[in-house]
Amino acid sequence: MKTKAGAILSSIRIDRSLDRKISVQLYMGLRDIILSGGLNGGERLPATRTLASEVGVSRTTALDAVGRLVSEGLLESRIGAGTFVSHTMTGRARFTPPAGETGNGREPRLSPSALEAGRLFAERRRLPHRSQAFVTALPALSAFPMAQWARLSARHLRQDRDAVMGYGNPVGLPRLRAAIASHLNASRGIQCDPAQVFITGGAQQAFSVIAGMLIDRGEKIWFENPGAIGARNAFISRGAELVPVTVDEEGIDVADGLAKAPDFRLAFVTPSHQQPLSKVLSLSRRLALLDAADRADAFIVEDDYDGDFYFGDQPLPTLKSIDTNGRVIYVGTFSKTLFPSLRLGFIVAPASMVDAMAGVFSAALSGVPTWPQAVVADFIDEGHFATHIRTMRQHYKHRHKVLHEHAAKLGKHLTLERASAGFHTVGYFRNAALDEDTFVSAAGEAGLTLSGIGRYCLRPIDRKGVVIGYGAAAESEIRSGVEMLHRLFGTQ
Ligand SMILES: Cc1ncc(COP(=O)(O)O)c(C=O)c1O
Repeated sequence: MKTKAGAILSSIRIDRSLDRKISVQLYMGLRDIILSGGLNGGERLPATRTLASEVGVSRTTALDAVGRLVSEGLLESRIGAGTFVSHTMTGRARFTPPAGETGNGREPRLSPSALEAGRLFAERRRLPHRSQAFVTALPALSAFPMAQWARLSARHLRQDRDAVMGYGNPVGLPRLRAAIASHLNASRGIQCDPAQVFITGGAQQAFSVIAGMLIDRGEKIWFENPGAIGARNAFISRGAELVPVTVDEEGIDVADGLAKAPDFRLAFVTPSHQQPLSKVLSLSRRLALLDAADRADAFIVEDDYDGDFYFGDQPLPTLKSIDTNGRVIYVGTFSKTLFPSLRLGFIVAPASMVDAMAGVFSAALSGVPTWPQAVVADFIDEGHFATHIRTMRQHYKHRHKVLHEHAAKLGKHLTLERASAGFHTVGYFRNAALDEDTFVSAAGEAGLTLSGIGRYCLRPIDRKGVVIGYGAAAESEIRSGVEMLHRLFGTQ
């Protein structure tokens, strides 16, 4: 007898006369069913062999489509148990207008940048939320000192109600701004006044605020190619023209930026650990970038998302710490040093921008919740933050070593970069004919989260490979993940 899932899936129609690959058609059919709530979170999919025969495609095609949905987080593959619709999809049926509000049938008139964002980002992806090999964006959640966190949280909930329950200061809790300023001084060599620190809902909100303050439609932003996806989306959504600037062994190539867009308004960089290629911006490039920005009357966004976790040689000075002309807008986040669901980040504005930024925050943002800010401020002031960072540096250093030791057996297939900070790196395919998407899908089907380098590119680059996280998963998962990769390479 056919299961409910089997019956729904057999409604997928494959049209072989179309130009579109069969696996993509199947992927889109499955995705539409899941997004429209046809299959709910937790429902089990039939085995790929059954799915393939139900829809009339080969098993490889079914594996491809299912793997892609697993890597995007719509499906979850549990070893030995099968493939399930992700629980996060529960209740995510597409919006159907209530009766009586069907509109006039016309599309709403949106701003050009909203239309552009809708076109570019129509494919809804969920950010990583589960610690498994080789997820990139998550820190080692299992190593987080939850007991201390709970104690500090409880303390604030018991304290003065006005302090934690009334409207907060839109630019951020003063105690947290001061704690961040002193942490940055001690750890990143940045001397700033707490008044320069603005608390945001993660780095992502910081990028939107900065773009909103500085970018008019069509203005140019130098953007590392490949580069950070979240920042890219924020800037594009604000109507910026992103100029793809080459990243080489020394990080962003300033000469390439100057050749392509001498009239840039902003440069977005990840100097301590290039996202995703893992390079460190060399000192001479740092100086050249500061000089170029000064000459063009441009600003630099320094995204120091995981710079606290350096474990190589002595780290280079942050751009902000050597910026004498007020060009650098430094962005930090607690998503890596603490955990991402906190949604806490911050901007350190150049002194010349403080008043304007305070105005923007006061006018447009209602701030982030006070209580978690107070907990983080205590966490820093009582020394737990510095201890946690020191512990995690060793943790990531060790995981990096474990990954490299085990991945030695992949040497025939993959050139794994050495990182000196953070918790992800890249592996380049030795076989240039390998397709990133196909490989990522097959890995997803095997329960591994990988991202193709191509996803991060504004313009294709001449090397192919995958971004590999080593921070979040347990050592044993890294080991078995490498074994799976080994088998996958054997079958590609
Ligand atoms: C390059 C980069 N910057 C910043 C962040 C953090 O963003 P948020 O603070 O919004 O979680 C990430 C998340 O993975 C990232 O990859």
